[in-house]
Amino acid sequence: MCGIAGYIGPRTGKDLRDLLIDELLGRVEYRGYDSAGVAFVDGANLSVVRAAGKVKELGGAIGDREIGTPFIAHTRWATHGPANEANAHPQTSCRGHVAVVHNGVIDNWKALRKALERRNHVFRSETDTEVLAHLIGEYLNGDPLEAVRSALSEVEGTFGIAVLFQDYPDLIVVARRGSSISIGLGDGELFVASDPRSFRSFTDRHVVLEDDQIAVVKLGQEELLIQDIDQVPVSVKVEQIELTVDEIEKGNHDTYMGKEICQQPDSLAQTLGGRITADGRVKLGGLEDHLDALRLAQYIILTAAGTSFYASMVGEILFQEVSGLPARAMNASELAGQKHPVFPEQTLAWALSQSGVTTDTLCAMKILAEMQIPTFGICNAVGQDIARTTQAGVYCRAGVETGVASTKAFTSQVAVLQLVSLYLRQLRGLPWDEGCQRHLSGLQAVPEIVRRIIDQREVIQHIAEPYRFATDFYFLGRGILYPVAMEGALKLKEVSYVHAEGYSMAGMKHGPIALIEPRFPTIVLVPKNDENYAHNLTNVQEIRARGGPVIAIATEGDEEIADLVDDVIFVPKVMYYLMPLVYVIPLQLFAYYIAKKLGRNVDQPRHLAKAVTVG
Ligand code: F6R
Repeated sequence: MCGIAGYIGPRTGKDLRDLLIDELLGRVEYRGYDSAGVAFVDGANLSVVRAAGKVKELGGAIGDREIGTPFIAHTRWATHGPANEANAHPQTSCRGHVAVVHNGVIDNWKALRKALERRNHVFRSETDTEVLAHLIGEYLNGDPLEAVRSALSEVEGTFGIAVLFQDYPDLIVVARRGSSISIGLGDGELFVASDPRSFRSFTDRHVVLEDDQIAVVKLGQEELLIQDIDQVPVSVKVEQIELTVDEIEKGNHDTYMGKEICQQPDSLAQTLGGRITADGRVKLGGLEDHLDALRLAQYIILTAAGTSFYASMVGEILFQEVSGLPARAMNASELAGQKHPVFPEQTLAWALSQSGVTTDTLCAMKILAEMQIPTFGICNAVGQDIARTTQAGVYCRAGVETGVASTKAFTSQVAVLQLVSLYLRQLRGLPWDEGCQRHLSGLQAVPEIVRRIIDQREVIQHIAEPYRFATDFYFLGRGILYPVAMEGALKLKEVSYVHAEGYSMAGMKHGPIALIEPRFPTIVLVPKNDENYAHNLTNVQEIRARGGPVIAIATEGDEEIADLVDDVIFVPKVMYYLMPLVYVIPLQLFAYYIAKKLGRNVDQPRHLAKAVTVG
């Protein structure tokens, strides 16, 4: 959460302003957009410009003013104090000679602030970050790196920081514990960011800081100066940035969310590519060195947050029914919040995450590690914390997801779960019958089926738009489509701000049905080839009997459902286990079109951020 950007180089004037707003900060805005700010060297002083709201508001606040370099900049997802100008970063020391941008949470900030106030420091914000600026300012005595190290030695919590000094106007100091920082190596210019996509248009080489490392970023230095927290020099490892420039652009689409929904035929094909052999078996290279641990597992825990948690719920069913293993999906924050979780002998865990940096999921993994439960990963972003702290895993290969609402990462996670559940079945020596073959060939056909649904998106748009006046929705599904109903409701509420609840189809009559009335639509997931189809129709009738409008997502050619409900979105028939991959697509599009019609910013919905790195 929160985006950090920084620059040292020769650019000036409008070029430098555009670099700051449109590129370096604009590209990390998906990480938080409550307020933004920049600090830069301005002659003999540090100048700070900040604004509440999005990065473009900061552009407005800068106006025609000349900014200088080096600069450090920030786009914020508020944790401590409201999203106003005073709480925006950079935060500065009392004398304004040190400016800090920060991603993470300082746990002991209150105690530090009290101690600083007793020493006559005057605070101007409600942020935890401001204590860092004051502390570094207090320690500053001839060596900026040393001042940062000394300040950080007092700090508990997580941070990725960039610090600018009035008295050392040719450098930026960066440090990391738990929140990523990378340094981009350009041609005669250097960049700093919480995510290399910030500067990817200018260089494909960067250095990634590890936890508890501090670096001085300065032009003309033979090599970056990086030390660990104990002052031991660290050898600098320059890495290639895997991301292409195309991946971070919107292309022909006007929103990232629209682009990412439409990319799913390709992202799913990428997920599956090379993982199904010609003789109809699953091959997962990332797991091959861990076959014993996988074979020995007697119980599976899946843990994740938000959309990734709903994918885990699908995984719970797949592991049980396909791999024949008892399994349980646990919301990461709830797992981490349990006092004494108990799991059977030979438990094996899977952590799922698009970003790979979600703090709730990392906390759950910590508990699992303490219990000596081996944890494998299903991640999309490559090389991030969750992938690095798991024993092994399977990458989703969905490509960069920038829209804050997760879409293509969900379908790729579910596709990976299909593969892993079949892989475990193979490993455990369960019968590899005709059902398994149909499962695999059906899975290979999914990308084209998804393409057919996306091709009829105008029909879905036409059905969705009249429902934009509704203020509440239910999404109902049963069995493997129950988590998909939850995901559909989450998509709608996060991008349109319309209240929506995902619920179990049959569970509806145990209370929620009380709310049904003619202005309260329900979206039902009712595949014709579900063995509970007849029960589902009864549940639909119960809603209709109370005057509730119903939109069905149903199997092509199902006339019975068409007669019963107000609107139907038809999707091709697929086997039960593959239904989540198909039924979620109309729900993503439904949420997208409602939100667009309501004039929402679907890529950056209010109060949200793409990477949730606070607990
Ligand atoms: C919803 C959404 C969030 C994330 C959740 C976990 O559209 O994007 O609910 O799914 O914050 O994030 P990851 O998957 O990055 O761990």
